Amino acid sequence: MKKLAILNNKGGVGKSTVSVQLAHGLAKLGFRVILIDLDGQNDSSLFLGISEANYRKTFYDLIDKRSKTDIRECIISARENLDLIPNSNIEEINAEFYRESRIDLVLSEKLIGLEDLDYDYLLIDCGPQRTRVNDAVLCYVDNIIMPVQVEAASVRACGSIYEYLTELRLTPDKIALIVPNMYDQRTKDAKENLEFLKEFFSDKINIVTDPIPRRVKITEAGKMGKTVFEYDDESSNQFFKVLERLVENIG
Ligand SMILES: Nc1ncnc2c1ncn2[C@@H]1O[C@H](COP(=O)(O)OP(=O)(O)OP(=O)(O)O)[C@@H](O)[C@H]1O
Ligand SMILES: [Mg+2]
Repeated sequence: MKKLAILNNKGGVGKSTVSVQLAHGLAKLGFRVILIDLDGQNDSSLFLGISEANYRKTFYDLIDKRSKTDIRECIISARENLDLIPNSNIEEINAEFYRESRIDLVLSEKLIGLEDLDYDYLLIDCGPQRTRVNDAVLCYVDNIIMPVQVEAASVRACGSIYEYLTELRLTPDKIALIVPNMYDQRTKDAKENLEFLKEFFSDKINIVTDPIPRRVKITEAGKMGKTVFEYDDESSNQFFKVLERLVENIG
């Protein structure tokens, strides 16, 4: 099972959108996929059309020491080949993780049993900012996918991922994919920002994918609880290209 985090310290850059599209895209390619929603606002669950009424147990139950929850009790079937573990009480989970002395081991402990369930890919949708939960996720995963909004401030801030990894004593090799998002190909400004992004990561071969344009249909799909593969052929093709690159880069 390949373990991937979708992470960027900035908010609203498309982490949950990219998580959901990549998870469903991998499932459509025939892989068995599980997505864990650690976004804090349940966005990836909502983008899949799954609301609290559909939850049984959540990731929080795996953290709560009083409840002896088997991980299988948290899993919801979201689509063919795609399962979801929803979440609740992110602040309490964060506080609990601050009490853990070995942050590098926390998630393998809490997710015990997951490796035996025959998934090809685990994707974790992360919340913004540096949190103890994100520290634990970064230590646990094999690779990071970073969506970056193609606008000046986001592109300038993209180097902070290196600082974050260094502080956790992790290597930058974990970064497998940079997905430029909300690209507006009509503006010179967006073209320049995209060039800057490619230049910034130019020492890493093939890491920056083709940009995902800003498209109303992507926002609409999320609101309706549908993925682009169910709603918008053009974006589906763009996300399939991102997926090809992902599979090429991490196997
Ligand atoms: N390429 C795109 N085109 C149009 N809308 C998009 C695109 N990508 C994301 N969005 C929309 O932008 C908003 C923010 O996206 P999303 O929730 O995926 O970001 P996020 O990084 O997960 O945010 P947060 O930091 O709050 O978790 C959502 O309404 C989403 O539907
Ligand atoms: Mg999100």
